[in-house]
Parts: sequence; C-alpha cells; structure tokens
Amino acid sequence: SDCLNVNKLGHLTIGGMDTVALAEQYGTPLYVMDEAQIRSNCRKYKNSIDRFYSGNGIAAYASKALCCKALCKIAMEEGMGLDVVSGGELHTAMSVGFPPEHIFYHGNNKTVEELVTALQYGVGRIVVDNLTELDVLNQLASAQGKNVSIFFRVKPGIDAHTHEFIRTGQIDSKFGLALETGEAMQAVKLASAYKNITLKGLHCHIGSQIFDIEPFELAAQVMLGFIADIKRETGMELQELNLGGGFGIKYVPDHQPVEYDRYMERVSKVVHQTCAQLGLQIPYIIIEPGRSVVGNAGITLYTIGAVKNIPNVRTYVSVDGGMTDNPRYALYHSEYHALVANKANQQRDMTVTVAGKCCESGDLIGEGMLIQKAQAGDILAVLATGAYNYSMSSNYNRLPKPPVVMVKDGESRVVIKRETYDDILKNDLL
Ligand code: LLP
Repeated sequence: SDCLNVNKLGHLTIGGMDTVALAEQYGTPLYVMDEAQIRSNCRKYKNSIDRFYSGNGIAAYASKALCCKALCKIAMEEGMGLDVVSGGELHTAMSVGFPPEHIFYHGNNKTVEELVTALQYGVGRIVVDNLTELDVLNQLASAQGKNVSIFFRVKPGIDAHTHEFIRTGQIDSKFGLALETGEAMQAVKLASAYKNITLKGLHCHIGSQIFDIEPFELAAQVMLGFIADIKRETGMELQELNLGGGFGIKYVPDHQPVEYDRYMERVSKVVHQTCAQLGLQIPYIIIEPGRSVVGNAGITLYTIGAVKNIPNVRTYVSVDGGMTDNPRYALYHSEYHALVANKANQQRDMTVTVAGKCCESGDLIGEGMLIQKAQAGDILAVLATGAYNYSMSSNYNRLPKPPVVMVKDGESRVVIKRETYDDILKNDLL
C-alpha cells in the first residue's frame, strides 16, 4: 500500500518509519498502523458520498475490523459514522465521546442489557434483526419513556461471500429478515403498530472482501424494490438505506480491488435509476466499510525464531506470534504477503510456510509464501493486517496480545499497550 517503502538501509518502512527500529523499540510481535493511510481511506469514502450522493449519506466505519479508542477517535474526527455490534464496541466509542446519533447498532442477538445501554446512550439507529428483538426493544423503550429509531436488517437474497456471488431466493443466514417469505414485510407492518418504535429505513450487508460491483448493484435494486413494495402496501416511504460494507482490499499482489469511486459511481447510478423507475425519493445512503478503512494501513512485525527445512516437503519459518494475533489463515485460509523487513531490498528466493508458536499444527500465517532468505533473528513483516487481526486476537496458550503502535508524521505512539502476564492473570481467582 501507499504507506510502505524501503529505506537506504534496505529496511521496510511504514509511514516513513523504519520497521526494524520499531521492532527494536517496542518488541515483537507488534502491530503497526499508519494513521495517514487510515485517514486517507476514510476521506475516500466521505468524498465519494459527497460526489455521488450530493452528501446525502454517511460512511460509517465498521469498528469490528479494529475497535479501540484511537480508531473511534479518528473515525469521529473524519466525520464518519460508526457501526458497532456489541456493548463492548459501543462502550469504546462512547469512551471517546463519539456522537451517539451517528452510531448504528447491529447484531443478531443483542442482549437486553446491551439494548438498555444503547437506549440510554441514544444510539442513532438500532438495526433490528428479528421480530423478538423488535418486541423486546419496544418494551425497553417504553420503560425508558423513549422512542427509538430503527432499521430492519433484510436479506436481499444475494450472498457475495465467495468469489462468485450467488443470487437465490432464500439465503441461509443467521442475520436478518427474509424478503420472499413475507417475514420482512410482516416486520415492517408490525413496527408501525409499536408505539415506541420508529422505522427509519432498511439495512443489508451481502458479504466481505468482495471484488465485484455487480452484487452491490443488485442488492441496491432489491432493497429499493422492497422500499417501493412497502410504499405500495402501507403508504409509508422509508427515507434511509444502509447498503453495508464488504469492499475488498489487496492482500497479495494479484488481488484487484475495486476503486472506491468506481463502486460508488456504479451503485449510485443504480440507486438513481431505480428510484426514478419506482417513483421514490433518493434515500439517505449509509455504507459501512470496515476492512477497507484499516486493512492496508496495518502490518505485523514478528521476530523469526527458527527456520526448519523438511527436505522435499517445505521450510517452516517460525515466528513469535501466530494464530493468536492473526487467526485468519487458520480460520479462512486467507492469503497474506510477507517479507523480511531487514532485507526488504533483497531478492525473494525462498518459499516458506510461516508458522506461529501455538501448540497446534494449524497455527500458520501462510503457506507457499515467497520471501527473502530468512534466518533466526530476522524481522518478518506480514502486510495488510490492519483489519480483523487485533480485533480477532486471543490469549490461546496464554500468549499476551501484542501492542498496536500508530505512526504519524515521523513519530510513533502506542495506542493499545502490550498485554502483560499480570493482565492475563487479572481475572483468575483461587
Ligand atoms: N456491516 C455489517 C453489518 C457487517 O456484518 C460487516 C462485516 C461490515 C459492515 C464490514 O464489512 P467489511 O467492509 O469489513 O468487509 N472476520 C472476517 C470478516 C467478517 C466480516 C463480518 N461483517 C475476516 O477476517 O475476513
């Protein structure tokens, strides 16, 4: 990504800072994020909304990709909304004074406690997943003497989780209300009968790490079609539409992500045309990028502890982290690009399997990775780890979570401290 380079020493740099020096200063494993890259990613979305929807919309950062105080603050300063999916994410956002009216609260099974808190904070939109939640929410809002603004999460029947998206009637998903069974329409009609609920709009999210534009176009069409159906059946025209996140990023050189503006241009065209055809006003549009806001702004630095060659099979390069700080290969076989940070200007001539230090054979960061000739003591940099790495990290094998260091204007600062062994013990009781 734009924030990476190689300096005169042949070391990888991020935001102009020497990664080998950062590894020395803060220790490894270490997550490093470039603040300028994050901010520029935020601005691309904001500018696109301005350009293609005349500013009638908002980009909400899906904080599940990386939620911490620093990220919530950056998103806030960049004028983004925020997507939260738990009391913990909401608590983090509120701790930095995030404007609650710009928060979208998602989840297929929000607890009563979480809903109560969201109501107390005055979260902007609660994205209701099912009819039970609708009922509980109405009771809670009534108990607090409040009226709550909601969206319904709808399954548009498009699943873009894989390389080839599928368009079916009924998708098998735990999230949201089905269109074709009439469930979603039933929810809409029920909502208007609840005194403490105001239905403001609809939400859909069709998948993540998507490279095509077409499934997004289709989803917009389906959702607007449903808004038109609702108008026909009830006379009510919903004014807000949240089209979710899912924009893919480049993890390895042959990934070809869509330019934000290309996506926005084409989808906004579909929105404008469909609204014209169906006689609808252009709704306020919300998008929820997570991965594409932080993914390419982050790298992980490890120290290589051992290189083990198994003749005619493979070479293991063992690092001092692994599935605890990056579970994505173990979970999804996700691809990553890596290099030896202190040899960044040398030829890549070694194909390796990068292994973590957990007691588990599947604890790998990647297989078939082409890197520079590596030896114990080298620093390995794994790229594009800004999203869904720290946020999915664990303490398996009682490994402390690495810190997150933010670089900006030639300086670095810790935004999440390294866990200590005492942090790990702090909830243990005898
Ligand atoms: N909105 C909703 C309702 C979502 O469920 C998600 C992601 C997003 C927005 C943001 O999607 P993004 O722009 O980041 O693709 N752990 C997986 C990714 C799970 C995504 C879940 N939902 C991974 O590491 O690939």
